[in-house]
Amino acid sequence: MKTKLFESIEIGKLTFKNRVVMAPMCMYSAQEDGIATDWHVTHYASRAVGGVGGVILEATAVVPDGRISAGDLGIWSDGHVAGLRRITEQVKAAGAKAGIQLAHAGRKSTTAKPPVAPSAVPFSAEYESPSALSISEIEELQQAFVEGAKRAKAAGFDFIELHGAHGYLINTFLSPLSNERTDQYGGAIENRMRFLLETIDLIKTEVDIPIWVRISAADHAPGGMTPDDYVPLAEALLAKGIDMLDCSSGAVVADAVPAVYPGYQVPYAERLRQTGIRTGAVGLITSAALAEEVIRSGRADIILLGRELLRQPYWVYHASAELGDAVPMPKQYERAPVRR
Ligand SMILES: Cc1cc2nc3c(=O)[nH]c(=O)nc-3n(C[C@H](O)[C@H](O)[C@H](O)COP(=O)(O)O)c2cc1C
Repeated sequence: MKTKLFESIEIGKLTFKNRVVMAPMCMYSAQEDGIATDWHVTHYASRAVGGVGGVILEATAVVPDGRISAGDLGIWSDGHVAGLRRITEQVKAAGAKAGIQLAHAGRKSTTAKPPVAPSAVPFSAEYESPSALSISEIEELQQAFVEGAKRAKAAGFDFIELHGAHGYLINTFLSPLSNERTDQYGGAIENRMRFLLETIDLIKTEVDIPIWVRISAADHAPGGMTPDDYVPLAEALLAKGIDMLDCSSGAVVADAVPAVYPGYQVPYAERLRQTGIRTGAVGLITSAALAEEVIRSGRADIILLGRELLRQPYWVYHASAELGDAVPMPKQYERAPVRR
């Protein structure tokens, strides 16, 4: 069968050789100062050798206090660029596009004393209460994302993804469950989107690099965001030329209990794709058949694979053989074709 999943796709100005992209996943393996290690080079290059169309590096902090943990990658200084460049060189040499998730952990930072957030509302009793950001602090953080984007480009990344999901800083602006501000950054959705949209504008004026955005499309909690609530953001991102909306969900409030099953977040990608923006589906997609179904039926434009690629770096070769559309392996591995 000629699949759609393993067909190439133009996303903005980039051509991906297929529609499988490695989801960003923290490795908690950076040096204390956020510098990439040999682990990262091997880990990301292996998935690129495994045939994915794109690799997105884990949440990488734009300021030291924006780290989830001390083992997070950083991009807050020029000293981070050389280590990251080692990764992009290997990923791109293996034929995948290289992306990096630019992140700030906000109130979930375990390294910041105290963490910062739009409002002084802790994530849970186990987390420290954050200090509410002043306008000048907001502007400094937006500029930190710009500097991060510049360094990402200098390190050879083909695109960046802004981490607007999982209860981290950008997400806490977007959700009314974590944003209690009464100024221009809080209240109506137009105001809650402002931090992200302004950041995008600032990046675009200073760096020519394709931008993807990841959101938590559902808070899974009463009074929280739903995919329908995210329609104005999807429309605004489309208007700003954002290339991809990566639709994850949850982790905004501690007591949310989503129903989790294979492909459970696909409906979010499907709903927001109706606005015209390209979307990525992620979350418990492990089977070739489900991934192909999601792409072929037009529910999403790409599939992001997380844990399945940790288990099986060669998923693309196995899945394509299973669907009867075997993607050729690197020439070094040609004597070991996957047979079905
Ligand atoms: C070890 C690990 C680390 C993760 N780190 C990140 C991260 O840095 N940024 C992010 O947006 N999501 C992160 N996630 C979530 C994944 O990107 C993905 O959305 C999630 O695992 C669901 O997809 P899956 O079922 O294919 O694993 C992480 C997940 C795992 C398992």
